[in-house]
Amino acid sequence: MLVHPHRLRRALVKTETLAGHQADEVRMVRAPGRVNLIGEHTDYNEGFVLPAAIGLETWIASAPSNDRRVELTRLDSGERDGFQLDGLAPPPEGSERWIDYVAGVAWSLAREGVRLRGVRGVIASDLPISSGLSSSAALELASAWTLCAEAPPPLDGMRLAQACQRAENEYVGVKVGLMDQFASALGRPSAALLLDCRSLEYRAVELPLDDYLLVVCDTRSPRRLESSQYNARREQCERGVAALARHRPEIRSLRDVSVGLLESAREELDEETFRRCEHVVRENDRVLAFERALEDGDLAAAGRLMAESHASLRDLYEVSSAELDALVEICASVDGVVGARMTGAGFGGCTVNLAARDAVDRVREAVAREYPSRSGLDAAVYVVEPVGGAGLVEP
Ligand code: GLA
Repeated sequence: MLVHPHRLRRALVKTETLAGHQADEVRMVRAPGRVNLIGEHTDYNEGFVLPAAIGLETWIASAPSNDRRVELTRLDSGERDGFQLDGLAPPPEGSERWIDYVAGVAWSLAREGVRLRGVRGVIASDLPISSGLSSSAALELASAWTLCAEAPPPLDGMRLAQACQRAENEYVGVKVGLMDQFASALGRPSAALLLDCRSLEYRAVELPLDDYLLVVCDTRSPRRLESSQYNARREQCERGVAALARHRPEIRSLRDVSVGLLESAREELDEETFRRCEHVVRENDRVLAFERALEDGDLAAAGRLMAESHASLRDLYEVSSAELDALVEICASVDGVVGARMTGAGFGGCTVNLAARDAVDRVREAVAREYPSRSGLDAAVYVVEPVGGAGLVEP
């Protein structure tokens, strides 16, 4: 944990907009990033995902203001931005300001009828930005906990996650699924969460953390065209559903499609759409098989499923990158690494590994030795621990 509550509180109190009497009204909140163990690009297809919230987090310390204005300063860069709570409207397409995520949450919560408050605040984070560990969702959830007049917010974790997803879909303009906001809102210490994105039922899945660790490797490569490519994949899935539903009106999403049905309908889809659908349909099966493997303590099977997931994202869904492939290959060949795959949307970002505790040093060494010559970049390696979802930080 790089963020210290005292440092954040001090920074807030120092901010010149804070009159002394507000210092004792400081609200401090945290919201974690996430790593997805398996189930990629399945959430917006009403499928299954298995993420864990992780101890890389975004924090906001804030004090109420007596106007209807939100103003936040980023502790890392000193950058300051804000907005008026009333009369918010989505920004023009292509606006990529971090404050849009905060304003989008205010906009979305207001539409739910949630009472909001103006604040002056300071944001800090130890989550690498734009690296596929859900820095956006963490900022959204931390904003929700900051902006609601009441804390805890009047919406439960799932509805808060949905409000944050709507902010990103309809205000920021990226058509993400629910996984990231869900994990940041509802994470559990020591566990991953299996979410059924159709029924929204979920349950904790214990991880064998006595003997194994989650190791995240950041490619540190720029994420090219991520949001437009992401939206394009979504459209391809929708096209696949529309074609399959022509003769089978009961199909409403790829969740309704089995591998057998898809095979029998090969002629009805163009080759690229078929590959996209095949990834999603098989990935859903892999998530459930992965959960069973963990339950049975069959780590070898779990690792194979992670490898299959990565190959499918690379070859069928085409969202991996040379850097992600390199890190997966390097780590998978290290003795003691059970499984390795890209995590999150792809096009750059991070990989996730399930590794025996004593393999972590070997992972670091292998990555330092082999990755720079294959990519021209230095990777960052983090050991991450599952943590609880967004909430207040007690003083
Ligand atoms: C991003 C999105 C999620 C999910 C993943 C891919 O992280 O925010 O909703 O679609 O990509 O699995």
